[in-house]
Amino acid sequence: MSEALMGVYNRAPIEVDHGEGVWLTARDGQRYLDCVSGIATNALGHCHPVLVAALKQQAEKLWHVSNIFRIPGQEALAAKLTAASFADVAFFANSGTEAIECAIKTARRYHAAKGQPQRIDVIGFAGSFHGRTYAAVNAAGNPAYCDGFGPRLPGYVQLSLDDAPALAAAIAAPTTAAVLVEPVQGEGGARALPVEWLQNLKAMAQAAGVLVIHDEVQCGMGRTGRLFAHQWAPGGEPDIMAIAKAMGGGFPIGACLATHEAAAGMGVGAHGTTFGGNPLAMAVGNAAFDLLADPALLDHARAMGDRFAAGLGALVAGYRDVAVDVRGKGLLIGVKLVVNNREMMATARDHGLLVAGGGDNCIRLLPPLTITAAEVDSAIERLGLAFAATRRMMTQAA
Ligand SMILES: Cc1ncc(COP(=O)(O)O)c(C=O)c1O
Repeated sequence: MSEALMGVYNRAPIEVDHGEGVWLTARDGQRYLDCVSGIATNALGHCHPVLVAALKQQAEKLWHVSNIFRIPGQEALAAKLTAASFADVAFFANSGTEAIECAIKTARRYHAAKGQPQRIDVIGFAGSFHGRTYAAVNAAGNPAYCDGFGPRLPGYVQLSLDDAPALAAAIAAPTTAAVLVEPVQGEGGARALPVEWLQNLKAMAQAAGVLVIHDEVQCGMGRTGRLFAHQWAPGGEPDIMAIAKAMGGGFPIGACLATHEAAAGMGVGAHGTTFGGNPLAMAVGNAAFDLLADPALLDHARAMGDRFAAGLGALVAGYRDVAVDVRGKGLLIGVKLVVNNREMMATARDHGLLVAGGGDNCIRLLPPLTITAAEVDSAIERLGLAFAATRRMMTQAA
């Protein structure tokens, strides 16, 4: 491990060399079935030829130009994203946390523009994750990510997802600006909110003049088998949405989408970025969008999600001493363990399978949406071997 890197990551001991499709190869030649995908980012697999071609072609033409000029790729991608969603306008950023930052600013600015500047409170939920900027860690409220960074910011309130009366009271409060929620919690442990929960939230918020912000940074762009996760809940659409990760298939990109109404306060000078939406990102983003929004790919992602759910359900049923639950939606899959999830990540790695960790002692499987049925079966088989090895270790220790 390099001593020249800031020590903020607990890195797996793999020196990744290259990737192709669902597979990663380390410098020592070892191959891994990658169900981490850059934490739901390489949704089209590694080095998808269409994305590689789009990037190479743009690299020969124009890399960067300031947002003080028209950028045709932005106009094209914004038109696609708004045509495919509730939104009317898009702002392009470089990451998920920047998309969240824009979403929160858009919500507060909306109320200021409507003559209600006292509406600043953003209601968030326990178990959520919105990124690492100061606003994002305060919005999610996880002490592990807030402590030691000075005072908590005012204007952020955290509730339990299960506390309906507290949510109703918070929405009715005169200082509330917005409710910020992941339709499927990612880092929190692949927790999918019920369709009715999202629909009720929208109805309550709309009646109170409060905006709904969805964080679809992880669960959006096809991950759940629909282009956007909230599309499983008709009538539960947000007013503002943050997306990133899979949008660029691995190229850094994010976006904040909003209705015209919700973006009412975001006039000239209200927000900006140097790199966000630059021509390289837009070339890859447009190419990725066309592939991810293809109904055939979304059908495939749903089918592979069902295959995983069935196979993992059967596996867990035979290993109640190791795992207790399979959850999530589509290809955002969580397996809640009895044994330690960090140790299971290492054991799975020993069997050539890469999985991510998650809250509530889960491991997450977030494979590329392009994963084949044979690769799904191989992932389940490898996890089965890891479960068996864990059981053997437990028996030996007893
Ligand atoms: C739901 C969610 N929101 C926001 C973020 C932050 O995105 P980024 O790391 O690109 O800033 C993440 C990253 O994991 C995420 O999962």
